Amino acid sequence: MIQKAKGTYDVFGEYGKRLLYVEELIEGLMEKYNYEYFRTPVFESSNLFHRGVGETTDIVTKETYDFKDRGNRDLTLRPEGTAGIVRSFIENKMYGNHGIPVKAWYYGPMYRYERPQSGRFREFYQFGVEVFGTSDPMSDAEVISIPVNLYKLLGLKGIKVNINTLGDSESRELYRNALIEYFKPHLDSLCEDCKERFFKNPLRILDCKVDHNLDIMKNAPKTIDYLNDISKEHFEDVKKYLTSMGIDYEVNTNLVRGLDYYTHTVFEVEASVEGFGSQNVLCGGGRYDNLVENLDGPKTCGVGFALGMERLMTALEYENVDMPLIDGVDCYIIPMSNSEKDYAIHICSDLRMNGYITEIDYNNRNIKNNFKNADKLNSKFVIIIGEEEKQKEILTIKNNKTKEEYKVNHDELIDFLDENIF
Ligand code: HAM
Repeated sequence: MIQKAKGTYDVFGEYGKRLLYVEELIEGLMEKYNYEYFRTPVFESSNLFHRGVGETTDIVTKETYDFKDRGNRDLTLRPEGTAGIVRSFIENKMYGNHGIPVKAWYYGPMYRYERPQSGRFREFYQFGVEVFGTSDPMSDAEVISIPVNLYKLLGLKGIKVNINTLGDSESRELYRNALIEYFKPHLDSLCEDCKERFFKNPLRILDCKVDHNLDIMKNAPKTIDYLNDISKEHFEDVKKYLTSMGIDYEVNTNLVRGLDYYTHTVFEVEASVEGFGSQNVLCGGGRYDNLVENLDGPKTCGVGFALGMERLMTALEYENVDMPLIDGVDCYIIPMSNSEKDYAIHICSDLRMNGYITEIDYNNRNIKNNFKNADKLNSKFVIIIGEEEKQKEILTIKNNKTKEEYKVNHDELIDFLDENIF
């Protein structure tokens, strides 16, 4: 038997219904925030991610799905959404005529060659947003409010918002130098990857999954002590606006995030319910004021976030969050024999086109089994079509709850249902 690839999963059944409900909620929320839907390709030039996500990140050094196509092009399955949206923003010259700020939202599969475990897949779905062309701290706060409000709408309670700032380029540089000074005497005690990170991007050391428990990590310099006035003010404003929106947060000075492109605000929301598991970061994001320029666009600020759908779904399940899912069908049609199927399928199609969830018996069940099936499907009405019904175009309709029976003219069927549906 051929099995699914490692780190992937199938969606169906109840999980599928719950997922669709959440997806619809996301769509509605993005409409209210006035964001524009973007869809970019699942594969892009490998270069985009190397330069976009960062050469020293784990994602690029260890986790990308790289391949050559038949034309010998170097391509990569996207490990995240930001780089592709930035590429699209630049390539479609949205900085010129699109109206700034451009507020994009996206949803789709991402690919990382990670060790699969609960909450960590090789193919996973992200919902994310990217905002281009404004450095106003209000946009940082707005972006943070999106996942927080989504969790709130869904009724998720056990969440914790962690924020930090890396400051602007000048502050980041000062901080980088402080980290180099600090880690230089401890180089031998760091893992091989961190030794490399020390030379290429020392900030990444703080993010290391191997060394994170070392004492030297706990006492490492904090970004917050290296901020210039502009960066301090930006961070203060973000915090002020979060408070204005009633969003609780904690400043976590060790939060640096696993991607290279961030400046100023970084944030993560974690599931703070005991026993949730180690992959408890539900979403993350931040500001990236140099990324558009680094990918050959004009200097343009950016800020965004992405959330993992699988972790969100697990959190919802973990907290037993109820969803108003459609349970059952409106009408169940029984053609009494093959000769009534043409008329039955005509009625079935008509009902569906008039907005009624309708099922039909495909299997020539006997009447008893058909009623059992209608009950199983939780059908509100059962429509029986025999020889006489077909001939006279008068349908036998049974209210499957009260068991009342009606004779309804074909022409009056929709009116009847509009009046009697419960
Ligand atoms: P990220 O922190 O790498 O950020 O991923 C965002 C979220 O995707 C994580 O918090 C997690 O919920 C989910 N996630 C990541 N890897 C996996 C995995 N292997 N399996 C399941 N879920 C996963 C980004 O991707 C940035 N592009 C976010 C961003 C947008 N920053 C600015 N704009």
